[in-house]
Amino acid sequence: SENWIPVSELEAIPDDDVIGVAVNGHQIALYKVDGEVFATDNVCSHGQALLSDGFLEDGEIECPLHQGRFCIKSGKAMCDPLTEDIRTYTTRVEGEEVMLLLD
Ligand code: FES
Repeated sequence: SENWIPVSELEAIPDDDVIGVAVNGHQIALYKVDGEVFATDNVCSHGQALLSDGFLEDGEIECPLHQGRFCIKSGKAMCDPLTEDIRTYTTRVEGEEVMLLLD
């Protein structure tokens, strides 16, 4: 069943940047690009690093530990040393609140 959860105030995510939030025990990275919000798992698929500590550029998040890059829209691993994609989540904005779809 659909499970929309409020995860952040919209204004808490800086433009063209990323923050990390904890949602029901999941570590989630929230991105804002051109006013649009995207969400992925926050833990890198390669090791114990938080993508929210990384660098967001051109729709990709660069992991702070070994500089692997993921597409924030698809979760796709874009380069070495990554071998696994990360999960993405559907978001919507309701008023000032960012909602995340968890299943
Ligand atoms: Fe992210 Fe290695 S832990 S690239």
